[in-house]
Amino acid sequence: MQKKRVLTGITTTGTPHLGNYVGAIRPAIEASRDDDVDSFYFLADYHALIKCEDPLQLRESSKEIAATWLALGLDTERAVFYRQSDIPEIMELTWVLTCNAAKGLMNRAHAYKAAVQANQEAGEDPDFGINMGLFSYPVLMAADILIFNAIDIPVGKDQIQHVEMARDIGQRFNHHFGEVFTLPEAVVDDSVAVLQGLDGRKMSKSYGNTIPLFETEKRLQKSINKIKTNLLEPGEPKDPDSSTVFQIWEAFASDHQVEDMRRAFASGIAWGEAKKKLFELVNDELAPARVRYHALMEDPGFIESELQRGAERAREQAAALMARVRDAVGIGPIH
Ligand code: TRP
Repeated sequence: MQKKRVLTGITTTGTPHLGNYVGAIRPAIEASRDDDVDSFYFLADYHALIKCEDPLQLRESSKEIAATWLALGLDTERAVFYRQSDIPEIMELTWVLTCNAAKGLMNRAHAYKAAVQANQEAGEDPDFGINMGLFSYPVLMAADILIFNAIDIPVGKDQIQHVEMARDIGQRFNHHFGEVFTLPEAVVDDSVAVLQGLDGRKMSKSYGNTIPLFETEKRLQKSINKIKTNLLEPGEPKDPDSSTVFQIWEAFASDHQVEDMRRAFASGIAWGEAKKKLFELVNDELAPARVRYHALMEDPGFIESELQRGAERAREQAAALMARVRDAVGIGPIH
């Protein structure tokens, strides 16, 4: 039986936080344990270049994100774990796809449109501060996906449009040059939580409301204590469903623990007590991986060797596909 190929990338800007863990990394690692799944997970470092002009930060983020996946137990014998920039065929394919991507389609990309709109609202030139990387972002993402003929692309809601664009671009190519690409689909798992941050909005680096995944135990406790709550006193019943404390609890607890906490809210658990329990729960799940994470951060050679091994496996496939693409479009030796 043909295995289902699942692929997803993480842009290497910033330090992984609880939201990345619950929403992307934990489910991806779980999926990779399924015998019917062939998983490709990668560091999207060329994507990071679009918004990051600080080389030190990009390097550090790549290291942190790689160490995070390994510390959390990604089995690199099963999953192909690699860095985008180690696969030059992705860059080659990006150009070929750029020539097959309608400019009108790119004009409609949400991230680009939002940047234009922000400029207009600020009374600036619509193109102010927009580089071609931002404009062409969906083409690079299409190359990431199509180069491995991946089918299932687990992403957050904000990335669905990009996967649909990859599908469009692949379809257009196939139409002109013959069936080379498998067409991908975005997979959005509604059962996976989109975690709230300290202020109750979606946990996101851009809101500055994150809880870093592998900060020290003390700092984790401090962060959890900073989660915004209301002024209800101990003994007063509290609404679990509007509470960030409860929402994060749900993302880590068993069904049984969720029910217990729901009852505790109804009978007026103090916020301090609820946060203490939340800290213990989250810390218990993360503590063993945290130790591995810090050991890995001290051993960059090991991280690098894992990525190189992944790159070798990935390139084997990428090179074969790229050869077909070149042949299909008429690039290559004269014969
Ligand atoms: N654009 C994605 C994000 O920022 C990351 C990404 C890059 C990706 N290439 C991809 C995700 C290919 C899925 C498939 O979240």
